[in-house]
Amino acid sequence: MRNSVLPADFFVKNRQRLNEKLTVDSLALMQSSPQTIRNADALNLWRQDSDFFYFTGIDYPDCSLLLVPGIEGKTEEYLFIPPVDPELEKWNGKMLTKDQAKEISGIKNVLFNDSLLNSLFRNQKWKEILYCELNDYFPNQPLTPQHLFLTDLRNRLPGLQQKKLNLLTFPMRTVKQHQEIEVIKQATLIVKSALEAVMKKLKPGLMEFQIEAELTYQYIYNGCKRHGFDPIVASGKNATVLHYITNDDQLKDGELVLIDTGGEFQMYSADITRVFPVNGTFSERQKECYQAVLDVNKTFIDQLKPGSSWNQLHKLAGEITGEIYSKCGFIDDPTKHLGVSYHRIGHHLGLDIHDVGNLDEPLEPGAVLTVEPGLYLPEEGIGVRIEDNVLLTESGCEVLSADIPKEIEDIEAFMGS
Ligand code: GLY
Ligand code: MN
Repeated sequence: MRNSVLPADFFVKNRQRLNEKLTVDSLALMQSSPQTIRNADALNLWRQDSDFFYFTGIDYPDCSLLLVPGIEGKTEEYLFIPPVDPELEKWNGKMLTKDQAKEISGIKNVLFNDSLLNSLFRNQKWKEILYCELNDYFPNQPLTPQHLFLTDLRNRLPGLQQKKLNLLTFPMRTVKQHQEIEVIKQATLIVKSALEAVMKKLKPGLMEFQIEAELTYQYIYNGCKRHGFDPIVASGKNATVLHYITNDDQLKDGELVLIDTGGEFQMYSADITRVFPVNGTFSERQKECYQAVLDVNKTFIDQLKPGSSWNQLHKLAGEITGEIYSKCGFIDDPTKHLGVSYHRIGHHLGLDIHDVGNLDEPLEPGAVLTVEPGLYLPEEGIGVRIEDNVLLTESGCEVLSADIPKEIEDIEAFMGS
């Protein structure tokens, strides 16, 4: 089952909430993420822009959404899609039709792309602000057709001020709705079955990429469209490299293997890390390391509740980590935890793996977060990270990945059964 389970109503309500934030002197423009060339006439794997999906449900390139607020809270909504091209359909299959786009998004005014510019010109006449996505995250990224379109608009309409739409949309995406939580739970179940399949197959001599192949099989078989991110399958010392994705080493007897993974289901992915002994049994030293990380994981989760910001929580995590790791002898001073645990304890999770959200804002019920303490001892060839996904509730949190084994005895029992 690969059709969208999110109903049009979800996207209609998201737009209503956004429309309420738009002032009458403004318009908002969002566009599909661009397609890029891989080589010759082959394209890179394409994924819809997360905001565009959140407000339209349209999982199709080369589309635009224009929102035009009117008086008394009435906003006109226009969706622009590529015209159906029978020649292209011979190569690539059926294209999105206006009727399909209406049904998916709940937008009544669906037009073809050639009317976008005229529509924008007509509707901006009494407006001063164009809220748009400026994709300003990474300075080294190439300019996209969206950037060039916006530059062109600035030249053609110098009186129309372009402002960041993200400042309005990101806070909305931070608190998840029940439909999103259901999808994330489904994505978490799929990771559980993938990790359990891996645990059953693990043995010395396997290659890391063979584990990756098993994850891929499980994800696609269970209805994911792709991985949520490149899977990290890191045995032995490789696990001390945080984003190790080469996955080309051999699993050795006596080593641990760290697997950080998630399949993308309906545009949402879980983000889970588990660490397993390659031969099915933890050594005494591995147990010491693993248990310390598990203690941080559980202590932090026990204290997690709405009200603090991520930046406050990172401080709390540092205190918990410092205390536990110094007691276990991994560091001689609690303040030196960053020496063996060199990343933050978690992040927002949602349509983006490292999802949107202001790190200084207090977290609210409905936020979905990762909790992923780590311990990295390269000189011993040991890297441990235990990552759960949690939903903040009114009084604490619900661990969405609670059924994926993480206690030492549960892992050993599962692998030995
Ligand atoms: N799953 C990889 C990360 O959180 O960076
Ligand atoms: Mn993560």
